[in-house]
Amino acid sequence: MTQCHFFIDGKDIPFHPGQTIMDAAMTAGIYIPHLCHNPDYEPTGSCRLCLVKLNGRYVSACTRPAQAGGKVENQSEEINQQRKTLLQMLFVEGNHQCPGCEKSGRCQLQAVAYYVGMLSPYFTHFYPNRQLDASHPEMMLDFNRCILCGLCVRASHDGDKKDIFAISGRGIKSHLVINSPSGKLGDSHFNAHDLAASVCPVGVFLPKHKGYEVPIGQRLYDRQPISQVGDVAGQNKPAGRS
Ligand code: SF4
Ligand code: FES
Repeated sequence: MTQCHFFIDGKDIPFHPGQTIMDAAMTAGIYIPHLCHNPDYEPTGSCRLCLVKLNGRYVSACTRPAQAGGKVENQSEEINQQRKTLLQMLFVEGNHQCPGCEKSGRCQLQAVAYYVGMLSPYFTHFYPNRQLDASHPEMMLDFNRCILCGLCVRASHDGDKKDIFAISGRGIKSHLVINSPSGKLGDSHFNAHDLAASVCPVGVFLPKHKGYEVPIGQRLYDRQPISQVGDVAGQNKPAGRS
């Protein structure tokens, strides 16, 4: 297969035609912050956190094909500031209480916020009123943390072939819905071992009966920053594992 080259922050990166900037960066071991991207599923470009500059123009790295000779800017103060602002908006749109969250230390939202140096939410909190769904015997859903990345929707559709999750509504009214007669997880065909259960980058999917199995402080991103965790698919281990 033909191999071409482009540059990320001046570093020569090989790629095969058809690979995105994100694919090639991951293969080369270069971290580009992201939330809605998971290499096991088709990218949708919904969170925009992976924004980089390609030849001076903003693009999302997870959807933009790599371009031979292209010059990509990934790490700069300007881009970091844009990512920080996007994260600050995500934090105030939901209800994220990191110190008491079972996903703390394994949450990509929290870990990326540390990575970009986000120290405060900055914007006014929305404090949305979102219900929990504790109807399933093995899994609880805490919608307060949902950032609408759509990964569980893709995993349920493409991987599990079940179509249990969907995003409904528009704009500020967008929310995750469950495809079951009652709209509750316990009334659906969901199984705790479904692929959809392990892709959430935040703490929506919480397995029952095993909370805080790994103490906070000893979890994946407590031990190493997200930029140094190479296997992105492995970042989304089911809660309860480190
Ligand atoms: Fe994404 Fe998690 Fe919300 Fe699903 S529940 S859309 S995986 S943040
Ligand atoms: Fe590229 Fe979300 S990771 S848009």
